[in-house]
Amino acid sequence: MIIAIDGPAGSGKSTVARMVAERLGFYFLNTGSFYRAYTLSALDNGIDPLDRDAVLENARRITLTVKDGAVCIDGKDEEGRLHSPLVDRYASPVSSDPRIRELVNGAVRSIAKDMDIVTEGRDTTTVVFPDAQFRFYFDASPSVRARRRLADQPGEDYESVLHAIEERDRMDREKAVGALRIADGAIVIDTSLLTLNQVCEKVINAVQSHSV
Ligand code: DC
Repeated sequence: MIIAIDGPAGSGKSTVARMVAERLGFYFLNTGSFYRAYTLSALDNGIDPLDRDAVLENARRITLTVKDGAVCIDGKDEEGRLHSPLVDRYASPVSSDPRIRELVNGAVRSIAKDMDIVTEGRDTTTVVFPDAQFRFYFDASPSVRARRRLADQPGEDYESVLHAIEERDRMDREKAVGALRIADGAIVIDTSLLTLNQVCEKVINAVQSHSV
């Protein structure tokens, strides 16, 4: 069974997807981590992350795998380095190249074969798994998402975090391929005023009431 969740950064989808996977005994697969890994590897190799051909060539040269939930680049666990401000900034432009998207989608679909998974990203309900049994779209206002980000990473300034979030939203929505949008038939949850546990309950209730 596939449970797919899409939504903007800070909507709570990563944390909730992980919680739902744990409670149901499913495997958690975060598609954003793959775009982040290609971005990180390009930066590590001195490649300009906006040079699409060089980023693609590098991406084709390396191997991404997932081990115990952590993304590995050529066998090395790099999960802890995927959320630096530089990777945050460049993952969206890297993910706007349709050729990179094909690489990620192929990898994700092959990992998901014959497994029960909870997956999340920007286009998992629309492009990667349009036939997933359960499709959700999480949303939250930009100001709520900025405050969540500050709670995770104190010390940053509210206005610049809000600006960065709005800028990423714009890039994620305006992508020619794999843009963030609500899939037909997806269950929409506004997480602005809900706790993570409450969102998790809503997802599990929806899954359990439809799968009997
Ligand atoms: O969810 P995240 O912030 O870790 O995602 C990193 C970047 O990758 C983000 O800019 C959006 C992009 N992304 C995407 O284009 N498609 C996905 N399925 C997942 C993430």
